Amino acid sequence: MGRRISLFRTNFHPKIWILGACVPQFTNCPTMVILVGLPARGKTYISRKLTRYLNWIGTPTRVFNVGEYRREAVPNYKNYEFFRHDNPEGVEIRRHCALAALKDVRTYLSSEEGQVAVFDATNTTRERREVILEFAKENGYKVGFRGSWGGLGQVKLSSPDHRGRGQDEAVADFLQRIECYKATYEPLDDELDSGLSHINRFNVGLRYLGGCAGTHLGTQRCPHVGTRWSSGGQSQLNLRGRIGGDSDLSPRGQQYAQALSRFIRSQEIPELKVWTSHMKRTIQTAEALGVPYEQWKALNEIDAGVCEEMTYEEIQERYPKELALRDQDKYRYRYPKGESYEDLVQRLEPVIMELERQENVLVVCHQAVMRCLLAYFLDKSADELPYLKCPLHTVLKLTPVAYGCEVEPIFLNIEAVNTHRARPQNVDINRTAADALNTVPEHF
Ligand code: SIN
Repeated sequence: MGRRISLFRTNFHPKIWILGACVPQFTNCPTMVILVGLPARGKTYISRKLTRYLNWIGTPTRVFNVGEYRREAVPNYKNYEFFRHDNPEGVEIRRHCALAALKDVRTYLSSEEGQVAVFDATNTTRERREVILEFAKENGYKVGFRGSWGGLGQVKLSSPDHRGRGQDEAVADFLQRIECYKATYEPLDDELDSGLSHINRFNVGLRYLGGCAGTHLGTQRCPHVGTRWSSGGQSQLNLRGRIGGDSDLSPRGQQYAQALSRFIRSQEIPELKVWTSHMKRTIQTAEALGVPYEQWKALNEIDAGVCEEMTYEEIQERYPKELALRDQDKYRYRYPKGESYEDLVQRLEPVIMELERQENVLVVCHQAVMRCLLAYFLDKSADELPYLKCPLHTVLKLTPVAYGCEVEPIFLNIEAVNTHRARPQNVDINRTAADALNTVPEHF
């Protein structure tokens, strides 16, 4: 048996605590996050990641990428000459595209449900930033700037502008485009822009430059990402059709733990970290691996409150409306004296922050927890989240790609009860639980 690390971590793990203090604090005042930087400095990566994170924690956020407006306005891109500062036609088209994007920002923040608009563009001149500031002031939006510079990121060979062109030609053109921007580039400046709320990101590590108070923006870390794995094992209570609880692994669950151990060894994953919840079934699964592991209380299964360890029949008998209420809005439904998926997302936020800092991690957890983690990496909405498929005895391998993640389910050939319950079609508050009974619940 390997060394066992029991850190009994809670939300107040020191590393997480620092990040927790940096999590964007939004009020009901709509907010714009303005990216600033030369092409190929990771602005789009940051924009998408920040947007995915904010949506996951329940803040409606959308990216407005000015490059996409320009591609629509000029579908046949010729070459970098378009971006020269002494090309009046190009300058005018780019200005027009930025204004069109701002118009859509206004629709999103003032007429739709949007709370944060991430303005993904170079915004390299002080003049352009003034236009945006004026726009925000007129509309009553808060503004935060997010600078991104330093070493050149991977030059965008996949840019739609260079589709069908050779690699050398594409790189040469893109580098020339960057030179065009450099001619007029005015980076965010500690002194000149000290009145603005801004953060500058350098390519080596992160440096936060606080601007004026009023809003804390974009301080979520956007580090590199690695590969993550997660899985869960069948418990005694799963087998008996009872939800929640903290029971031991069933015999099949023990077989799965052994199969998982063989599988993980066969993968030879470098510097793999293993995390479990504080619950017996995940700890017993990790024990079989024979490697050190860390326990996170934050990874515990959703708390079913008064329904813990009950079967559907018992819930229906004692709390007749609960099943139907949950079906009406599974994401926000909170078990009496327990948690909702929405609560769980908040609880898991430090886990996500730490996962983002790690490379290879095997997270041994539970169905509802897996759904929340998956929703973050796959950018799934609150409506889809509670119905994501996370079967028992299956490893979900997550691999970062471009701006998101790919998921590969790997079933380890150990039979398990089916704990998935599909989204019900017509939710009837007065119905019985009869239609729920075909599924053995983990968290229905
Ligand atoms: C682009 O047109 O590709 C970028 C527009 C900009 O932000 O300068």
